[in-house]
Amino acid sequence: MTERNAPCWCGSGKKYKKCHLSSDEEKQRAASGAESHSSAPRPQKKHAKTPAQIEGMRRSGMFNGQLMDYIRPFVKAGVVTEELNRLIHEYTVKHGHVPACLGYKGFKKSCCISRNDVVCHGIPSPDERIVDGDIVNIDLTTIAGGFHTDSSETFLIGGVTKEARHLAEVAAQALIIGIDAVRPWAPLGVIGQAVEPFVNREGCSVVQQYTGHGIGTRFHEFFSVFHHIDPESDKIILCPGMTLTIEPMINSGRWEVTTDRKDGWTVRTKDGSLSAQYEHTILVTESGAEVLTLTPTQKSAGIRLRACGKDYK
Ligand code: MF3
Ligand code: CO
Ligand code: CO
Repeated sequence: MTERNAPCWCGSGKKYKKCHLSSDEEKQRAASGAESHSSAPRPQKKHAKTPAQIEGMRRSGMFNGQLMDYIRPFVKAGVVTEELNRLIHEYTVKHGHVPACLGYKGFKKSCCISRNDVVCHGIPSPDERIVDGDIVNIDLTTIAGGFHTDSSETFLIGGVTKEARHLAEVAAQALIIGIDAVRPWAPLGVIGQAVEPFVNREGCSVVQQYTGHGIGTRFHEFFSVFHHIDPESDKIILCPGMTLTIEPMINSGRWEVTTDRKDGWTVRTKDGSLSAQYEHTILVTESGAEVLTLTPTQKSAGIRLRACGKDYK
């Protein structure tokens, strides 16, 4: 038992009462199975992975991050999105893994590529060329050793507008803020509570129809990770061993989106404004979050964090 005013056991340098005291209390309540309030959220330990599954998720995440490192130099003005899809597909297969998007609910490509006003689920195409001034999200999901991991990054192509740059910075920072909000035994709602006010203060909006998700042997597992404030999220408790994605989709205009009626996939902003997104797969740990899809290269280069002046812990 750490004394309230003593330094926290986690090494943060903060006082225990300002750091892990409340989560330790929640944990103790959970462990004792106390029926404190019948309406209080119960920890959902059944959704935590076993140590062996966590190792599998780590290995999958490392490959998924390496795939992002591999494709990054090819994402330039002049390239056709179908070509990026081909490179991503071949690199994945060559390493003995499976692109999770291919065939998922009938999706016909090995990744999603979403430009400008496309929010998510953009379909790579031989008819779509990336040009100077675009912002382009590449979303990669890999099945490696039976485990899914999922990450995405928005690339700024050449001379983008101030508005586009600001949006991408806000989206990158929104992801970091979401990751930093994760604490074991806290309600899932802490993510949206941290992300949405920040994004709104920056004059942007959080897409509500698409969310992060639990992830593991299946692509989208229980539960949905809202990036906006939603009371439902307070009913789920984050437990060590859970693996999930955080992937706020941020619009420069309003949050509403529409799905392309012809292809059934491409999601666009309703008002035609720009949209940007960054995504990582994370593991809830005893002290916070471990980012499974972040490679040493990305960490040292601070690639998606350049804009933010902040680094992962
Ligand atoms: N990777 C997306 C996500 O972050 C889902 C893509 S589903 C697909 O959840 F079918 F479009 F590939
Ligand atoms: Co994704
Ligand atoms: Co995802």
